[in-house]
Amino acid sequence: MKALQLEKPQQWRTIDIPEPQQPGEGEALVRVRRIGICGTDIAGFLGKMPFFSYPRIPGHELGVEVVAVGGGVTNVTTGDLCSVEPYMNCQECYACSRGHTNCCERLKVLGVMMDGGMTEQMVLPARKLHRANKLSPEQCALVETLAIGCHAVNRGNPKAGENVLVIGAGPIGLSVIEFVKLSGARTIVMDMNEKRLEFCREKMGVQETIVAGDGKESEALGWVTAGRMADLVIDATGSNKSMGQALNYAAFTGRVVYVGITQQEITFPHAPVMHRRELTLMGSRNALPPDFTRIIELIEQGKIDTRPWITHETNFANLINMFESYTKPETGVIKAIVTVE
Ligand SMILES: NC(=O)c1ccc[n+]([C@@H]2O[C@H](COP(=O)([O-])OP(=O)(O)OC[C@H]3O[C@@H](n4cnc5c(N)ncnc54)[C@H](O)[C@@H]3O)[C@@H](O)[C@H]2O)c1
Ligand SMILES: [Zn+2]
Ligand SMILES: [Zn+2]
Repeated sequence: MKALQLEKPQQWRTIDIPEPQQPGEGEALVRVRRIGICGTDIAGFLGKMPFFSYPRIPGHELGVEVVAVGGGVTNVTTGDLCSVEPYMNCQECYACSRGHTNCCERLKVLGVMMDGGMTEQMVLPARKLHRANKLSPEQCALVETLAIGCHAVNRGNPKAGENVLVIGAGPIGLSVIEFVKLSGARTIVMDMNEKRLEFCREKMGVQETIVAGDGKESEALGWVTAGRMADLVIDATGSNKSMGQALNYAAFTGRVVYVGITQQEITFPHAPVMHRRELTLMGSRNALPPDFTRIIELIEQGKIDTRPWITHETNFANLINMFESYTKPETGVIKAIVTVE
């Protein structure tokens, strides 16, 4: 059976791996039908992802079909189309015991810290499969990206009528925008890439956008919010500079959520900003099982339109050739989807 492996940064190869065994207790054998390519895969390819180890079969945004189930499996059956929750949690640590399966102390993400779905078939814990028979396989592969935004927005808990500033309009920022819109809050998007802001206005129905980088961002946000600033700021840039600056955009008693990730230190003024405004600062990691269920329902009901999302498509045989182009934002790539069959 074929699999695609990153032998080391910048070095793909096609390998032959043994067919998976029959599923054991609580497991399911699945056929991988679609794989979404995300920033994590790109960072892994570029060698910029500290959690990524090599050699590695990537692939964590998966639309799969159940081929066989092991004993005790009741949530899925043969033939079901599913979205995969790729966060393999230990089920024993303190975080897991409190239901924070997104944030397990020994968490392994499929395709990052363990081999993932860039292969034909695999055995997975059935509890990590979310049945989605009314979705297309492509839509199943999109659910995980959306789940990242869903969880970040749940953390920030925006209410109708509030001003929410989303900084960074890459795929993660876009997934945040989907859920801010559903909350009924007002969405304001900031990025320094004008093309990405244009995408937000034209394809995502965002009305207010602010170009970052001219030093007049706060002033612009003040205009848009009648001087209140943002009740909730969600930073999806992955830039430590932006993350430090983000607190300046928050309203008095506002909330700030970091969904983007940086290895750098973040600095911000405490007394004049964090303290004076009594801000609440939150992290956001991965997503929870109910997020997957909710997103599948929202797509079924047409409340999330997945059409703008899939900008590029390829197949398994061509992915290695195409991959480098997906690392370049100027190609307009939001989400590339790989067909395996
Ligand atoms: N919380 C999680 O569990 C989770 C999961 C997946 C990815 N991430 C992280 O989310 C972040 C975003 O991922 P992505 O794939 O959308 O990345 P991306 O690089 O495609 O998008 C980032 C966007 O931020 C903009 N940006 C960068 N610096 C800026 C600044 N100073 N001001 C304004 N805009 C700025 C860029 O122009 C770009 O459009 C990454 O850090 C990624 O690691 C987090
Ligand atoms: Zn991803
Ligand atoms: Zn755990």
